[in-house]
Amino acid sequence: MLQNMPIFPTQASSFAAHVDHVFFFTLAILVIFSLLICALIVGFALKFRRRPQAEEPRVSLEGFWALEVAWIAIPLAIVMVIFGWGALVYFEQTREPANPIEIFVTGRQWMWKCQHMNGRREINELHIPIGKPVKLTMGSEDVIHSFYVPAFRTKQDAVPGRLTTMWFDAIKTGEFHLFCAEYCGTNHSRMIGRIVAMEPADFQRWLSGATEGAGETGEQLFTRFACNSCHAPDNSARGPSLKGLFGKTVHLASGQAVTAEENYIRESILDPTAKVVAGYQPIMPTFKGQMTEEQLLTLLSYIKSQGASPGQAEAAARGDNPTTSSK
Ligand code: CUA
Repeated sequence: MLQNMPIFPTQASSFAAHVDHVFFFTLAILVIFSLLICALIVGFALKFRRRPQAEEPRVSLEGFWALEVAWIAIPLAIVMVIFGWGALVYFEQTREPANPIEIFVTGRQWMWKCQHMNGRREINELHIPIGKPVKLTMGSEDVIHSFYVPAFRTKQDAVPGRLTTMWFDAIKTGEFHLFCAEYCGTNHSRMIGRIVAMEPADFQRWLSGATEGAGETGEQLFTRFACNSCHAPDNSARGPSLKGLFGKTVHLASGQAVTAEENYIRESILDPTAKVVAGYQPIMPTFKGQMTEEQLLTLLSYIKSQGASPGQAEAAARGDNPTTSSK
């Protein structure tokens, strides 16, 4: 039991140790102050115990300003250190590194569905290579779930109606717990899985292994939902071409400019008139209610692969890992 649920999980990601340092620092302060306060309570109880009626106090502490300044300044300095240090670790966790391995994750009652760039899917399991940053783009089919890997010291909500991202860089091979950390209904406690961190070569072998059970690819969905009738590169009269779109700045009919990132593309599929590209008519129908969050993510991964540099797009089309060549 204790081996399966250790009090302190291993540090298996690049920032795990940094999170622990802040935690232990905060814990140490907590212990020091708890002991100090306990000692003072006992000390004062003894020192200021009830005296004979006639005895006068020897010192008066009224208006001792140096003491008051000290008990304001010292705790302030300590909490500012915790704040500053914690903020640095937070930034480290939230700033995505360049060229991560992209994986798409959908949460639903009650399972985690993961999909790799080459279309390989898995449920309640996620295989990743060590030593390379992995970025998860996450959506939810129903309610809020939370993707939590204690060994990586990171957690991110999967929220219905929008996409969220998280990243980590595993430094240890092995299997690690994956939990849903947001109460999401009856079987929330069973919404668990495992992360399998592998050597990069083993991961490549696993990734290129049998893809049976794989659903439609993004390219197939692009055709089935007839996206290609307007958005094909050679047929861009009605809709803008999506080739090279991802990550670019898009000028809108409203005069504003946006970056073509995950949530913009998601919105443009579900609510096409929200942000119309300059030079085009708002004729695209909405796909709200017509595709699942998982299909949305699959389409998004396809559009993303079209946005990569030509070499990467070809690699993605071949089913290679698109980030290996750029590393
Ligand atoms: Cu999903 Cu809790």
